[in-house]
Amino acid sequence: MSIASRLGREFLFRLEPESAHGLSIRALKSGMFPAAPRSDPRLAVKLAGLAFPNPLGLAAGYDKNAEVPDAMLRLGFGFAEVGTVTPRPQAGNPRPRIFRIVAREAVINRLGFNNEGHAAALRRLESRAGKGGIVGVNIGANKDSPDFAADYVAGIEAFWNVASYFTANISSPNTPGLRNLQAADALRELLARVLGKRSELAAKTGFQRAVFLKIAPDLDRPQMEAIAGVVRESALDGLIVSNTTTGRAGVEGLPHWQEAGGLSGQPLFERSTILLARMRQLLGPELPIIGVGGVDSAASAIAKLEAGANLVQLYTGMIYRGPGLACEITRGLLSELERRGLQSVTALTGTNAAQWAARPLEGEA
Ligand SMILES: Cc1cc2nc3c(=O)[nH]c(=O)nc-3n(C[C@H](O)[C@H](O)[C@H](O)COP(=O)(O)O)c2cc1C
Repeated sequence: MSIASRLGREFLFRLEPESAHGLSIRALKSGMFPAAPRSDPRLAVKLAGLAFPNPLGLAAGYDKNAEVPDAMLRLGFGFAEVGTVTPRPQAGNPRPRIFRIVAREAVINRLGFNNEGHAAALRRLESRAGKGGIVGVNIGANKDSPDFAADYVAGIEAFWNVASYFTANISSPNTPGLRNLQAADALRELLARVLGKRSELAAKTGFQRAVFLKIAPDLDRPQMEAIAGVVRESALDGLIVSNTTTGRAGVEGLPHWQEAGGLSGQPLFERSTILLARMRQLLGPELPIIGVGGVDSAASAIAKLEAGANLVQLYTGMIYRGPGLACEITRGLLSELERRGLQSVTALTGTNAAQWAARPLEGEA
């Protein structure tokens, strides 16, 4: 980490986490960070009809209202996912609702889909239309919606012209009942409605949009098998593994560890990587998987790829390591390819999936 990043972190960590987040968004809007060099072609990944300049993306939740996707791409991310956006604006839970667990470079959040709603994000994405770069839209449901699935369908419709891809986020722990959409019957119905709307719009507009599904890390084997079964029968383009965990392994006894919400960062790395590898084994080598959870270095990004990811995302790592992290990781990926004599980052995917899948999860025999 550079001296500037260290100083930046020291300053931001004196602020309440959500105020620090707001300030970082303002700094990004001001354009104060230098642009990353162009990605090396060996880092390119093609999947789901998209050409990613490199496999590292910004995970959802940092830029909930689509304020800074281009600034994130300039930092060196190969793609940026905005959202989660819900149809109507939503205040989320009372503050404080983000907590740093500094000793483990972790965060607990219970934001509860605070966001300005579809219309505000759409306006911003329309104003960047034609700029290029992969900007995905992560869609969710309003907490008081009578029909969660209808809110996802509305998201597909609203952002059809501006989203490079969609992520249906059914794994936030902070909207009561949302994770129930992961149960086989509910998931089958959700995907039928969401992918049905996708087919309808593709026929109408003449272009296609990829749809990914983002799942929780708190699933047991039967739940994972059920999800894999539904996904295999569907036209879904890929999975994102994973969201934050309701578990507290690795942070017990530390300040804030008992706060309600989802845990992210280093303590999530092992669990989310094991789940990713198990999903890779259940689904075979073809279906794209995006690995998320505790990535904060080139080594952890490489581990995700080896466990079966085609692409990787991060959020919490950037809170602790600063805005230079994307570049640091892509540089590290390239050095590793050179060290191993590989011509493409895609050669890393799944090379260690069996070993990762066989590791026991915390609490598993
Ligand atoms: C403060 C915060 C807010 C988040 N908000 C969202 C969100 O709105 N939608 C979503 O799909 N994931 C959200 N996430 C989850 C991240 O996208 C990611 O899946 C998770 O944090 C694990 O990755 P990480 O360890 O790199 O942070 C959020 C995470 C954090 C820390």
